[in-house]
Amino acid sequence: MKKYEIKTPVTACTWDELSEEQRALLTVAKNQTEHSYCPYSGFHVGAALELKNGIVVPGCNQENAAYPSGLCAERTALFAAGAQYPDQPVMRLAIACYTDGHFTAEPGSPCGACRQVMIETEHRYRQPMEVLLYGEHETLVFRSAADLLPLIFVSDNLKG
Ligand code: THU
Repeated sequence: MKKYEIKTPVTACTWDELSEEQRALLTVAKNQTEHSYCPYSGFHVGAALELKNGIVVPGCNQENAAYPSGLCAERTALFAAGAQYPDQPVMRLAIACYTDGHFTAEPGSPCGACRQVMIETEHRYRQPMEVLLYGEHETLVFRSAADLLPLIFVSDNLKG
């Protein structure tokens, strides 16, 4: 028997420690929380991703009375980008959460399904995507979505 430890490299930054480009994308994600449609949870999630050609694609969560029919902010942005710019790798993705009248103090955390879709995007374009998780106290910076989901399931796993 062998025991392994899976470690995740992550950098925690204050707003001032982030680059201008990171702050700009986070600002779009924060603004997107205003467009979130979340009458059921009251939890506003904004996302923004930057493509290789520099275009920024926004997203926000879209809820539905039939709960599972809704979609998270990250996937609205990733799927919109895939639909409109299918040849463009995603370089960076920013997420911010707003509830009870303020942005969350701790960084928002993408759900498992969104992490899986981020990883598919990285594999599709063979391009790591930097992930920025905004919190009022600190923002977490991951160099790749793969760092958010160890033991990933990708197309290679289908080959047996
Ligand atoms: N939500 C997101 O938009 N992204 C996530 O990664 C986690 C959850 C949304 C879904 C739902 O509209 C609300 O947050 C509460 O779960």
